[in-house]
Amino acid sequence: MQRPENGSLPGKPVSASAVELATLVEVADTNPMGNIHGGVIMKLADQACAAAAIRHAGRICVTASVDRLDFRNPVHVGDMVVLKASLHYAHRSSMEVGVRIEAERLQTGQRTHVASARFIFVALDDECKPVAVPPLIPHTPEEHERYRRGEERYRERLARRQQEKNNASPPA
Ligand SMILES: CC(C)(COP(=O)(O)OP(=O)(O)OC[C@H]1O[C@@H](n2cnc3c(N)ncnc32)[C@H](O)[C@@H]1OP(=O)(O)O)[C@@H](O)C(=O)NCCC(=O)NCCS
Repeated sequence: MQRPENGSLPGKPVSASAVELATLVEVADTNPMGNIHGGVIMKLADQACAAAAIRHAGRICVTASVDRLDFRNPVHVGDMVVLKASLHYAHRSSMEVGVRIEAERLQTGQRTHVASARFIFVALDDECKPVAVPPLIPHTPEEHERYRRGEERYRERLARRQQEKNNASPPA
């Protein structure tokens, strides 16, 4: 599970960096129908995932990409938005962080699934260069499965970026 580049760093379990963030939806966050703007959810998701990545890396981290973000249900003014973020996978300097976003109607306690997303963060050193992060240690069967799928997606993204680079290179 340990990688040669970051093998000297002690590994950390997924639970050590998991984040839960909750906030109330205010009128300023919503459209004229009283539903929260998608961009507000995206910002909160980025913040929750960034907090998990920084906790794991012990470094400043930047958002490198957003893999996927599907909105399933609206959130209304007065609801509480609850975000749960945790690492799926860590390679050398990059980390895939998943977030699940729910809305709670406070009067009833009813929760609905609003969106799920995956963000990729890269840890930076003091000179703003990518730096190795501790290996991620999955424990539960669910964490192992997320790790396995995160590793597959890491390889797919790498191949895609390489392909894009090749396409952009001028012919020899
Ligand atoms: C993300 C960033 C640090 C990568 O820098 P880079 O010089 O391309 O770094 P490298 O090619 O050495 O790659 C470093 C790591 O980032 C990953 N990476 C780079 N670009 C990526 C992308 N678009 N999506 C996902 N991962 C990416 C690489 O896979 C590598 O991971 P690994 O170390 O775990 O193998 C750089 O592109 C950057 O600073 N982007 C702006 C980030 C930012 O400001 N975000 C806030 C929103 S504006």
